Amino acid sequence: MTSPARKRIIVGVGGGIAAYKVCAVIRHFTEAGHDVHVIPTAAALNFVGAATFEALSGHPVSTSVFDDIDEVAHVRLGQEADLVVVAPATADLLSRAATGRADDLLTATLLTARCPVLFVPAMHTEMWEHPATVDNVATLRRHGATVMPPASGRLTGRDSGAGRLPEPGEIALLGDLLLEEPESLPYDLDGVRVLISAGGTREPLDPVRYLGNHSSGKQGFSLARAAAARGAEVTLVAGSTSDAGEPAGVELIDISSAVELSDEMTKRAAEADVIIMAAAVADFRPVAVADAKIKKGTAGPAPIELETNPDILAGLVQARGRGEIGADTVIVGFAAETGDENGGVLEHGRAKFARKGCDLLVVNPVGSGKAFGTADNTGWLLSSAGTETALPLSSKTLLASRILDALEPLLKRS
Ligand code: C5P
Repeated sequence: MTSPARKRIIVGVGGGIAAYKVCAVIRHFTEAGHDVHVIPTAAALNFVGAATFEALSGHPVSTSVFDDIDEVAHVRLGQEADLVVVAPATADLLSRAATGRADDLLTATLLTARCPVLFVPAMHTEMWEHPATVDNVATLRRHGATVMPPASGRLTGRDSGAGRLPEPGEIALLGDLLLEEPESLPYDLDGVRVLISAGGTREPLDPVRYLGNHSSGKQGFSLARAAAARGAEVTLVAGSTSDAGEPAGVELIDISSAVELSDEMTKRAAEADVIIMAAAVADFRPVAVADAKIKKGTAGPAPIELETNPDILAGLVQARGRGEIGADTVIVGFAAETGDENGGVLEHGRAKFARKGCDLLVVNPVGSGKAFGTADNTGWLLSSAGTETALPLSSKTLLASRILDALEPLLKRS
């Protein structure tokens, strides 16, 4: 018997050069204490040897339904699994899985698995965009599987474009999410354009110094990751982050200061169906930015004169009111609160919701080790319909998916 926290995971490996990167995913799951079986295709073993997969997983590896026939492995492995991750999912493997072929141990196992299945495609851009592959991906999604969008960038050879295997950490985060909550990644945001801000802003004082904050960007990046896996077209405008990951299939725009963030969000807002302001935006910025490094001098520290930054969230709500962005655009804000002598976290959140005028507000406690930089988060979700929903402590990726669930009644689909 495995303990409830120790899950049975199958990592199916397809025959692509990115197979070597999947070793890090296997390692992630075994280090988390899970029981991992690796099922490569015969082609995968051209790229990474069986010995590597056996050493990493601690289990023998076979590719054929005719090995260990007395064990009926192709049925047992699938039936007992809590999660199947297929990476790299090549065009050929997606095709075989979509049509229900069972000509090797991996595809046979996919037919017997009743747990969440995460396909992680990797191939050349032309193959990814070919109508046959597009159809196969749609079929697999219709069958209930999650298909990660591939990353863009350098491919094997001289090619560059969509089709790179997402970073192992990204595959691991979505796998962990499906173990935490198997129903958390429905394919329900297809074609929805989601604009997200994340991370902290840096307000420059001189060429080497800035006023900043502790935001890691993890919650905003988790929203981008979950939204992209659910089919959304995601643009992520990111300030300073720490260990927030590299969500695949997401357009990433880097900014530094609040004014830069304001410019990017304002420019893109009219093209969005949903805007989520998860960034920790500095309320103030230095009035003057020195051209050269400020020297200590002998007179002690000079005071820093500050001016107020634009409230981007409130500004977007006002722009919607003026008709500058679509009346149906859903606007989501965040309120990181500590609570004080004037009220608790939720009371401060309610007051902020009334002030900002957005459609949803995520209120979360911060300070004393809570939220900033952590992998988990908790809080409340306030909606303009007057509901207040508690968000139980969970990974930031699951919390992100719960926030995305709340969009459904607000989205006006054409
Ligand atoms: O007012 P406060 O900073 O607590 O509000 C937090 C919410 O407002 C977050 O969604 C944050 O991204 C947004 N915000 C903003 N512009 C600011 C300050 C905060 O959009 N200048």
